Amino acid sequence: MNKPESLQENIRSSLTETRLFPPHADFAAKARIDARKLSELRDEAAADHVAFWARLAHEELDWQQPFSIALDDAEAPNYRWFTDGALNVSYNCIDRHLKTHADKLAIISEGEPGDVSTYTFQQLHDEVCKLANALKALGVAKGDRVVIYLPMAPQAVIAMQACARIGATHSVVFGGFSAQSLRDRIEGANAKAVITADGGTRGGHVVELKKAVDEALASGCQSVAKVVVYRRTGKPVEWTAGRDVWWHEITANTSAECEPEWVNAEHPLFLLYTSGSTGKPKGIQHSSGGYLLGAHITSKWIFDLHDSDVFWCTADVGWVTGHTYVAYGPLSNGATIVMYEGGPMTPDAGRFWKICQDHGVTIFYTAPTAIRALAKMGEQIPARYDLSRLRLLGSVGEPINPEAWMWYHRVIGHEKLPIVDTWWQTETGAILMSPLPGATATKPGSCTQPLPGIFAEIVDEAGNIIEGNDAGGYLVITKPWPSMLRTVYDDNERYLSTYWSQFGDPLAARRENKPFLYVAGDSAHRDKDGYYWILGRMDDVLKVAGHRLGTAEVESALVAHPRVAEAAVVGRPHEIKGEGIVAFVICKGERPVDDDAVKLSRELREFVSKSMGPIAKPDEIRFTDQLPKTRSGKIMRRLLRSVAKGEAITQDISTLENPGIVEQLLGRA
Ligand code: PRX
Repeated sequence: MNKPESLQENIRSSLTETRLFPPHADFAAKARIDARKLSELRDEAAADHVAFWARLAHEELDWQQPFSIALDDAEAPNYRWFTDGALNVSYNCIDRHLKTHADKLAIISEGEPGDVSTYTFQQLHDEVCKLANALKALGVAKGDRVVIYLPMAPQAVIAMQACARIGATHSVVFGGFSAQSLRDRIEGANAKAVITADGGTRGGHVVELKKAVDEALASGCQSVAKVVVYRRTGKPVEWTAGRDVWWHEITANTSAECEPEWVNAEHPLFLLYTSGSTGKPKGIQHSSGGYLLGAHITSKWIFDLHDSDVFWCTADVGWVTGHTYVAYGPLSNGATIVMYEGGPMTPDAGRFWKICQDHGVTIFYTAPTAIRALAKMGEQIPARYDLSRLRLLGSVGEPINPEAWMWYHRVIGHEKLPIVDTWWQTETGAILMSPLPGATATKPGSCTQPLPGIFAEIVDEAGNIIEGNDAGGYLVITKPWPSMLRTVYDDNERYLSTYWSQFGDPLAARRENKPFLYVAGDSAHRDKDGYYWILGRMDDVLKVAGHRLGTAEVESALVAHPRVAEAAVVGRPHEIKGEGIVAFVICKGERPVDDDAVKLSRELREFVSKSMGPIAKPDEIRFTDQLPKTRSGKIMRRLLRSVAKGEAITQDISTLENPGIVEQLLGRA
């Protein structure tokens, strides 16, 4: 098994962590799911997991046309759920709450400068309908793709919900991605329209979103007929007449009623581009019915949503967490969500805690990288704020190290709030493994166990399931679940090869009636109590500050520079970001040294930041004459990781084509 050395700490904690935190009795007493209920749900799912999901889909979602087929596996592993049912996701997130909760707040949003705006469910309904009608008037129809490139403002949720309302498939692009990444995603989705803003504010800077859209469209993207621009900063922007329209103008005299487009449960709700180990990011395609069920039920169970809760998930809508736990899951439960546009350190490290205090946040869901960054600033900062309304804390996106978990537990949770460490992926649509806060005893650093209805296993390199506890290997999911990805947009081959082919040909498995294994790409350890510890990615996917990046993408950004001949990128443990990027670069001509090396290194870091976005900026560039390659031509990344970490080379280098290069990589030659 390929076990990057950066995983050693995770492996160690999974073997040595013994602290156990049972749910508090008073939390458990009021929780939606207590230990007894959890065990009933597990039994029900184990008896017939398809019937289990079908019951939940019938009970929890509003269907315009109820389904009779729960799971269609004729084309497995292209599974389809609730196939003859029809529904509308926006109806489920908004309209169905209007009878009883029209005046309840759906969104409380704070801009980085401190401006606050709120929307009741009725107001959200009206804004969504107006934009939906305006999009239709612009020619956007059911099945069209719409790219959304907006700041973390209510308009992002309104735009997503408006697309859902008319059956258009959205593809949200993170506002921190560059014009080039945006263009790739617009072209990948063949989008008909783009929804953006004149700008957003982050970390005190204006992010020029419209300018990036203009740049992206100037170099291709023939499919885009319209660009809808929301006025956020009021700063002047370039304008292309006939193509660009102001959001406020197209919605000004538009009806606040828009009959939802009832779509088939399998209708694609959204695409979300995410990094893999090779090639360009892939468009993960999600469904309407199955996805919404996953988003809805996990929000309800794991975040224990009650009517009085104020739920804040700090993720940007550009990532899957911002889809499932900002735009869809909580709203489908009729919960109030908080959104925040800016950075956690603006104007200082108290911003998150001030927002929790000011808006009475009861459930707070963030990433380990943010917890580590805020912990580093000292406990006196959160102590300045009244966090007494908080009742549940969550973590997502990367393994949380036990020290960060304990800080969260002690300083923010005052040793009494449950912490849900939730494991999932863009591909899984919703959380698959997590404690249930009123039922599961937690261990710092473990996402505990699969949810009812989810069946996980650990397999060895040959794909054999390792029975019993204390097992380490590849994490696989053995039964389909409703919110799973349906395909890779426009590339079903890639869907089959990336997720289903590691242990044999999936189509042969279908013929032979063998079980399918969904390969998550993570390695994991199941401890003696049956708890799962996610150790990290098995492939060349990096997690930088919780953001998913492929080494191949950063490498191809580097080789686009005129002086670069070849590049290899690896991750290196980083105290705050989890992982940082180190690039080994071979230049055309002579290897740069001294001042030239310093200058070029700075230039290349900026170059990557500009071409992909600031999150992909390497921490360090090292110039070399060659990369360490095996005789079959494979780059020995394991060796590069050790070099990047500055640790002793213990691995066998006798298989290297060019063993002499190790001395140079270590800076000794
Ligand atoms: O490696 C796992 C890590 O994040 C990967 C998925 O990344 P992405 O698609 O960007 O989705 C992130 C938000 C769901 C996984 O393969 N990961 C996610 N959550 C956890 C985690 N690793 C450990 N613990 C988690 N709770």
